[in-house]
Amino acid sequence: MTTVGIIGAGHIGSALAKGFAKNGYDVVIANSRGPETLADLVAEVGDKARAATAQDAAEAGDIVVVTVPLKAIDAVPAAPLAGKTVLDTNNYYFERDGHIAALDEKKTTTSQMLQEHLPESTVVKAFNHIPAADILTDGAPAGSENRRALATSSDSDEAVALVTRIYDEFGFDTVNVGPLSESWRVERDQPAYVVRQNADELAQNLARAAR
Ligand SMILES: NC(=O)c1ccc[n+]([C@@H]2O[C@H](COP(=O)([O-])OP(=O)(O)OC[C@H]3O[C@@H](n4cnc5c(N)ncnc54)[C@H](OP(=O)(O)O)[C@@H]3O)[C@@H](O)[C@H]2O)c1
Repeated sequence: MTTVGIIGAGHIGSALAKGFAKNGYDVVIANSRGPETLADLVAEVGDKARAATAQDAAEAGDIVVVTVPLKAIDAVPAAPLAGKTVLDTNNYYFERDGHIAALDEKKTTTSQMLQEHLPESTVVKAFNHIPAADILTDGAPAGSENRRALATSSDSDEAVALVTRIYDEFGFDTVNVGPLSESWRVERDQPAYVVRQNADELAQNLARAAR
């Protein structure tokens, strides 16, 4: 059985915990305040979930999701994530995260920042441009007409293939943006950001992105 570690238990982390558990994964989830504060969420997710520290979630996960405010990524434990694929849901909101010059100056992307913090992990963008509330409600079986599509991005083809499988299990098609250096195409304020789109529309919106 595959275990998913989830670091961050807010809007996205809790929706993903429910979705992964429903799809048959074991879930180990953490926030900043400690596992005892996650009792209600774990009870809601059910038997397949347990609460942990971020270190424990990173160690326990075969796959790990980092879904915290961008300003907190430096606190994500790097050593236990070495050799693992890390799903990055994170976005940059200077109003929340403070100004980050390399992002303001378009010299990097949010995913490249996480990859830099986790040099021995394989970072892959996932679930960053869908509102948390839609994750569990907007999926549809493969082949459904106008199925919603989500973008991914990684320097690893295997990681893209993994996210493609996970998206399909959640009920979404995938469009691959390419390497992390191109992931700005699905960041905040770009045409593909948080709008509902099928695969063709998403591909068009990614192509229309401007930096
Ligand atoms: N909300 C959305 O619809 C949405 C959609 C796509 C992407 N995103 C992006 O995904 C990320 C998470 O968004 P969100 O809306 O889920 O945020 P959120 O509701 O504010 O939740 C953030 C979570 O991160 C935890 N956290 C903060 N610092 C941590 C640390 N050092 N170690 C472990 N956990 C830590 C918080 O724990 P405590 O509560 O204990 O501090 C909280 O559980 C953000 O980058 C956001 O921009 C959000």
